Amino acid sequence: MDEDGSGWIDAAHLTPDLDEVRELEERLQCRPWREDRAFVARHLAGDFAEIGRSGKRWDRAAILDQPPQPWPPSVVLHDLRMLRLGDDLVLLRYTGSHGSDGRVHRSSLWRRGTPGWQVVYHQATPEDAPAPPAAPGDRPAPVLVGERVRLRPTAAADKPALLAIRSTPEVRARWRGDDLEAELDDDLTDPDLVPLTIERLGDGEIVGYIQYAEEADPEYRHAGMDLYIDPAHWRRGYALDAIRTLVAHLVGERGHHRLVIDPAADNTGAIECYRRAGFAPVGVMRRYERQADGTWADGLLMELVVDP
Ligand SMILES: CC(C)(COP(=O)(O)OP(=O)(O)OC[C@H]1O[C@@H](n2cnc3c(N)ncnc32)[C@H](O)[C@@H]1OP(=O)(O)O)[C@@H](O)C(=O)NCCC(=O)NCCS
Repeated sequence: MDEDGSGWIDAAHLTPDLDEVRELEERLQCRPWREDRAFVARHLAGDFAEIGRSGKRWDRAAILDQPPQPWPPSVVLHDLRMLRLGDDLVLLRYTGSHGSDGRVHRSSLWRRGTPGWQVVYHQATPEDAPAPPAAPGDRPAPVLVGERVRLRPTAAADKPALLAIRSTPEVRARWRGDDLEAELDDDLTDPDLVPLTIERLGDGEIVGYIQYAEEADPEYRHAGMDLYIDPAHWRRGYALDAIRTLVAHLVGERGHHRLVIDPAADNTGAIECYRRAGFAPVGVMRRYERQADGTWADGLLMELVVDP
């Protein structure tokens, strides 16, 4: 929707063809797509030109001949907007960051031709001042793109898909609730939570949900997270990628040095997943969480601490 009459369209209101361009741009920003030479070759126009963040100029051949780079596994995108310049020509701009290496303002010109959408021009300019420190209560809504999944602010339109996942017996066993719709609404409107829908990269299918909360007291600054994945998609690395991507954002952009998560002590699959993401057990919290039958189950406190 062109809200201010300028023609710029925000990420929540893209038409399907603009959304395709948005996805291609995001994929060009991170692994494993950048390591996929055929993918990059398919989407760089023959007359492609870039002025990179260092000021260096690139053309298509220079990009494709580049030796393998340590591409970041995830990228954070803020304020993505698009301007349609013609039926087959769009300008896209956003601010991106790869964790702690600073924010970069980017713009790309995409053209649609016989090979589909290709990027013709890209410009990257580092932000001249560091991002303002994350303030308590400030609710950022960036898009986080990982290797396999994309985390984006949960929209009302996601509710049916998320309710279907929460209603599966496997997820319900861990994310309980009598009235799941009311529970989901609570999560989406809770001012202390940042709810993010997990989409599979490539086709945008909703495969799960992850949320985080930040401790507002600066003396005890930390963040906690929780998630679920559709059982139909378990063991494909989506949870691990979602957690790693969120960790990179919380540490790199939100400035956290300590993250926590508190699975049930008997949730061995989740505990192993968090261990693989870098969390270590702190200890068992006895009789921590009330069960459907009224009894209390133990929880395991796990933390990921970034040492100075
Ligand atoms: C826990 C959960 C989020 C994991 O999602 P997932 O997408 O299947 O996890 P991944 O595929 O990313 O798993 C990554 C690694 O974690 C470990 N892991 C994940 N699930 C596991 C399980 N059931 N048993 C043992 N190890 C498991 C494995 O090491 C796995 O790697 P591998 O598949 O190569 O062996 C998912 O099972 C879930 O939604 N459970 C119900 C809700 C829940 O328990 N949420 C957590 C509340 S704290």
